Amino acid sequence: MNPEAVIFDLDGVITDTAHLHFHAWRQVASEIGIEIDEAFNNTLKGISRGESLRRILHFGGREADFSQAQRDELATRKNSIYVESLNQLTAQSILPGIHDLLLELKQRGIPTGLASVSLNAPTILNMLGITDLFTFCADAGKIARSKPDPEIFLAACHGLGVSAQQCIGIEDAQAGIDAINACGMRSIGIGADLQHAGLRLLSTDQLTWPCLSAFWQRAK
Ligand code: BG6
Ligand code: MG
Repeated sequence: MNPEAVIFDLDGVITDTAHLHFHAWRQVASEIGIEIDEAFNNTLKGISRGESLRRILHFGGREADFSQAQRDELATRKNSIYVESLNQLTAQSILPGIHDLLLELKQRGIPTGLASVSLNAPTILNMLGITDLFTFCADAGKIARSKPDPEIFLAACHGLGVSAQQCIGIEDAQAGIDAINACGMRSIGIGADLQHAGLRLLSTDQLTWPCLSAFWQRAK
């Protein structure tokens, strides 16, 4: 038996945008006197834009200094810098192994879903030229709770018409692995430091159909 669907995170699984998020947040944070480094940025993986800003303000001890309107302005400014930097994305920016895996899943008739909390996800898939390889993309704009809440993964399952327990979810962030596990999906983590992944791989080029299939047979 095969999984009913394979559901992917975007940033860090399909393409590596973490450094672009970092560059944009670092610029905005530094304008308000908060210096963040890459280690701190790693803790923002899988975390929504608004919640990322809240964590940056908290990190800088400035949470009480900004009204909601000012926060919205900061988040909008960060997004403008980020969106500008997305211009550099092309099909070459797809992480190793991902395109082949998406094609193979399509050929095998296994539905694919996207569960990214990024409001820029549709634009990014478009720039990578792989929108057509996804059966259903959950709408981050309709999600109330960021990962590690399972809401976005459950929305992807709902859109695909599949049950979470019959799916594989793939993530590079700890918050994402926790979200996948919380809804009863089987989790695959990309990254050496991830905890509680059903299968942990070091790089996306290890994400092949034989690897997924063997994991699924073992997990069932
Ligand atoms: C996640 C990223 O995929 O999307 C986070 O890992 C980011 O770093 C979040 O904050 C929201 O993205 P966006 O594009 O809506 O600001
Ligand atoms: Mg990610």
